[in-house]
Amino acid sequence: MCGIIGIASNKPVSINIINSLKKLEYRGYDSAGLATLTDDSINEKKCSGRVEELEKILFKAPSNGNIGIGHVRWATHGVPNIINAHPHSSEQVSVVHNGIIENSDEIKRELVSKGLKFKSQTDTEVITLLITEALKENEPLKSVYKTLKKLKGSFALGIIFKNFSNIIIGARRGSPLAVGYSKEENYIGSDSYALKSMTNKISYLDDGELCVLTKDQINFYDENLKKVNKKIHTMSESETAIDKGEYKHFMLKEIYEQPITIKNCISEYVDSLKKNINIINFPIEPNNINKIVLVGCGTAYNSCLTAKYWFEELTTIDVEIDIASEFRYRKLKFNSKNLYIFVSQSGETADTAAALDLCKKNNVKTCSIVNVIESTIARNSDWVLPIHAGTEIGVASTKAFLGQLTVLYILCLKLAIVRKDIDERTYVKNINNLKKLPEAIKECINIESNVQLMAKEFLSAKGSMFLGRGSSFPIALEGALKLKELSYLHAEGYPAGEMKHGPLALIEEGLPVIILAPKDKYFEKTLSNMQEVIARGGKILFITDNKKDSLNENIRFGLRVPHLDNLLSPILLTLPLQLLAYHVALLKNCDVDKPRNLAKSVTVE
Ligand code: AGP
Repeated sequence: MCGIIGIASNKPVSINIINSLKKLEYRGYDSAGLATLTDDSINEKKCSGRVEELEKILFKAPSNGNIGIGHVRWATHGVPNIINAHPHSSEQVSVVHNGIIENSDEIKRELVSKGLKFKSQTDTEVITLLITEALKENEPLKSVYKTLKKLKGSFALGIIFKNFSNIIIGARRGSPLAVGYSKEENYIGSDSYALKSMTNKISYLDDGELCVLTKDQINFYDENLKKVNKKIHTMSESETAIDKGEYKHFMLKEIYEQPITIKNCISEYVDSLKKNINIINFPIEPNNINKIVLVGCGTAYNSCLTAKYWFEELTTIDVEIDIASEFRYRKLKFNSKNLYIFVSQSGETADTAAALDLCKKNNVKTCSIVNVIESTIARNSDWVLPIHAGTEIGVASTKAFLGQLTVLYILCLKLAIVRKDIDERTYVKNINNLKKLPEAIKECINIESNVQLMAKEFLSAKGSMFLGRGSSFPIALEGALKLKELSYLHAEGYPAGEMKHGPLALIEEGLPVIILAPKDKYFEKTLSNMQEVIARGGKILFITDNKKDSLNENIRFGLRVPHLDNLLSPILLTLPLQLLAYHVALLKNCDVDKPRNLAKSVTVE
């Protein structure tokens, strides 16, 4: 999704803007640009494509100026080209914007009727022209404030002014905006990661707030332009030091980090000595919880779906799951005895944040399971359970998914014991198995070379299918999602038992079909569903934790993952699927860390 950077300094800023834009590349984008103030004029440079292009343009014609803003754009209004790239500037003002202005057409019509001309197809340009108009009668902060009053939708903004050459104004409604402090410079950025190489002192704007930066001062204002103070968060060294290290891609590094991230996560929640889970302060007394409602998008939704099987297996609590973009518009019957849980790696996903807001408006208790604890979703919920996965850069979520599953499983165990839905012996047995998880994950990663061979089976394929039953079904969905987002190959995830109700029509000679068959109560049934696929010519790629050899001549390729217990099998089955998506994408020369049309943090609806 779009990324913003702004720097007010006592030295030229364009190189640092480029470096920060490179840090924002992970969010997904299709064009880039920057604007600096030189000799009292706005100097704008833009390109379609990569930040490297922008760097080349700057190399040929350097931009001076001690104050500037930069942007990577993920197209929403108007095709990705130079004209639509940000910043959008008039003679007086230059604007970068994340988010969507929902009433831009209406404002555009009004401005055009007054004789104003638009250069781009974007919604952002209305902001530029509204501020330019307001500046005729107001100083910059008032002009921005008056403009914001006219906008509907979500935004984070960075703005510089030709005639006020020492300030940057930042503003936020919906989309996040971080502010960074340093000795002779100050910054705005769409996330703290963009600012990490320059500072570890960060504040976050709350919804409706604005800030005015100079090189040595930052003032914050609320939605009524009343001055406010902000807490400064000092990021730890581990939060600031992020690079690929020896790995070719962030995604591969993040897959390989999982034994450690899961170990960290478990040790945050599980007291090894007392064999107990340290989860306290439930927003609703566990015995009074009527229902758990789990909400997320994409991979986070797949973790909710997996957890539903665990809650049903281990507790007597009724569970409902929903995709956030559906939940937020449904006609729901809210109940104060329900616990509403929002799962999000970034904690900034617009649909999930809106679903959470809806719950808050209806006065029900909310919990968030997030990776970024300073995020909007974490800050807005009654109760936060972090996944402790560390920053995830690869657009395709890997270690965050496993972290979400682990926290959901731990929460489920805790609720089950507190409510006496399981006995102490089962509780301790499950905790012991959980502690073996990091080692088992390591073993799964060790089969990478076999997965690499399996990946070749996808090279000439026109599509693929992922099948599983029970808690392997959401993992089939996740495997298909990973493959399609990284390698652009059509992939469908299905409950294996559903194939005969339609999808079998898609099976044709040589179609790769991944069968997830842990040795659980569904095992024999999954084998029968596999036969239906074999009979129609599907190419079977079989993944199991069954120790006995279940492979036969009809199976093109087999992989075995370790077995801990049936409850944890969805976590272990995930590893080969992450590696598979990675290797298919590599074979197809796809950009693994920056897949097309995708964004890491989806801050628009
Ligand atoms: C995961 O690989 C995806 N890129 C995507 O589905 C993601 O999980 C989804 O956009 C939700 O993001 P969140 O966890 O940050 O809310």
